[in-house]
Amino acid sequence: MFAVPDNTVAAPENPALRHPVRVALSYASDRDSWRHLLRYDPDERFAALVERTAEDEIWLLSWLPGQRTDLHDHGDTSGAFTVVSGRLTEVVARRGTLDVNELHVGQSRVFAPGYVHQISNVVPDPAVSIHVYRYGGRTMRYREDAARLAT
Ligand SMILES: [Fe+2]
Repeated sequence: MFAVPDNTVAAPENPALRHPVRVALSYASDRDSWRHLLRYDPDERFAALVERTAEDEIWLLSWLPGQRTDLHDHGDTSGAFTVVSGRLTEVVARRGTLDVNELHVGQSRVFAPGYVHQISNVVPDPAVSIHVYRYGGRTMRYREDAARLAT
């Protein structure tokens, strides 16, 4: 006879087991937690720390038309981001190819060590997104060889 283990995956009281997409969606829908932080900066992509917990950093980003990141990874950090408003385009470099993901409101992407991507707002309207960085904070490594790292 075997014992059935506790269902630790479904244990909501353990924040470390809460998927970063769920965290991002939760903050995305809780506008009162970040509304006062939101800015649009024509000079550079705007980012503000919303909250830091034992596991996660939650960041609010805004993207005016044409604003973008360079190709980057997040070091040893895992996480996710969700589009709150507008539309974002993500290019993922993987095994020598570039995959393009068009992300609309409510859509999320997950990242982990070795995940190399670039995000941009290529449409005429501003965009807002919530980003969750788990264990390691908002590490961003802009590397000229990031594309090679994805091969
Ligand atoms: Fe990123």
